[in-house]
Amino acid sequence: MIKKIGLGTWSWGNKFFWNYKENSDNELFETYKEALKRGFVLIDTADSYGTGRLNGHSEKLIGKFLNQTPITQKNKVQIATKLAPYPWRIGRTGFNIPYKNSLRRLNNNLDIVQLHWSTSRYNPLQELQLLNNLCDLIEKGCNFKIGLSNIGPTKLVEIIDFLSKRGRKVSCVQVQFSLLAPNINKQKQVKKICDKHNIDFLAYSPLGFGLLCKNPYSTIVSNKSVLRNLIFKFYEQSTLELRKSLLDIAKRRSVSQAQVAINWCCYQGAIPLIGLRNRDQLIDISGVLKWDLSQSEFRELEEISQTIVRRLPANPFISK
Ligand SMILES: NC(=O)c1ccc[n+]([C@@H]2O[C@H](COP(=O)([O-])OP(=O)(O)OC[C@H]3O[C@@H](n4cnc5c(N)ncnc54)[C@H](OP(=O)(O)O)[C@@H]3O)[C@@H](O)[C@H]2O)c1
Repeated sequence: MIKKIGLGTWSWGNKFFWNYKENSDNELFETYKEALKRGFVLIDTADSYGTGRLNGHSEKLIGKFLNQTPITQKNKVQIATKLAPYPWRIGRTGFNIPYKNSLRRLNNNLDIVQLHWSTSRYNPLQELQLLNNLCDLIEKGCNFKIGLSNIGPTKLVEIIDFLSKRGRKVSCVQVQFSLLAPNINKQKQVKKICDKHNIDFLAYSPLGFGLLCKNPYSTIVSNKSVLRNLIFKFYEQSTLELRKSLLDIAKRRSVSQAQVAINWCCYQGAIPLIGLRNRDQLIDISGVLKWDLSQSEFRELEEISQTIVRRLPANPFISK
């Protein structure tokens, strides 16, 4: 199995959760260039990324960076966005304008369009209409593959069937997948369905918002956003044993704790979408392409992870 990794860009333009600073765009450009150089196969964004007046900023930055990239390099990476099924984006044309806007921001580089979350909890028909909308766009000549996000196993099977009636398939599914993710068994069921149907399984928040990289013995107070600091504090004790184990494996392997957490995803055939915003962290993470977890290391992490009751919060819209 060929190991694949992707770059996540939720933090690019997000002040509230990620403390984004406008003067960091050069660093983001360096991060992006390094990702292409080091074999990242996918860049993941969304039309809802970027807070306040920065809405769409993540897509805009990627579009700008792609414009400065030679075509041979561009062809090696897939650009995936997620369109948000807000309650007012309804009917079979609800995604027409959002799609065009994302395409414009991304400077016509858009390979995969994903439904950002399932609407089954508030308007079950809406997601099917919007998926029909995406099929219509493809039939009219728009060139992209269809992906899903925040979908559970039952809905996934339904949508696979629904799309096949229109002659289309699901290309990828992304769900929260890490050693701290909630409902991990449900995500593993999604993975099995993906394997059966040859769908790429994408792991989002694979580092638990960065929590899994935190050194268990360090008392340094991190310089994160207020919200992330609160999250780090809240999970500090409950994740201690897990982080010790990650660090132990990292030391034995002479790699970073972050690499061990990412390789837990890769071991299971997931494509992790790693949130990165500086070149050094990207270079470090790309080290995962050079080594694999052993079976016993994987089991050790699984066992500790399963004892953790305090999991990260689930996306409120994830379907059954
Ligand atoms: N579909 C969805 O609903 C959904 C939801 C969430 C995320 N996603 C996707 O998944 C991507 C990744 O998830 P995420 O952004 O939540 O975060 P994540 O990948 O779980 O964590 C990212 C953070 O980990 C830290 N980190 C990364 N590499 C490191 C290294 N080598 N050493 C030490 N620390 C390191 C950094 O924190 P610092 O920057 O503080 O150093 C980084 O910002 C997103 O960007 C997005 O594309 C999708």
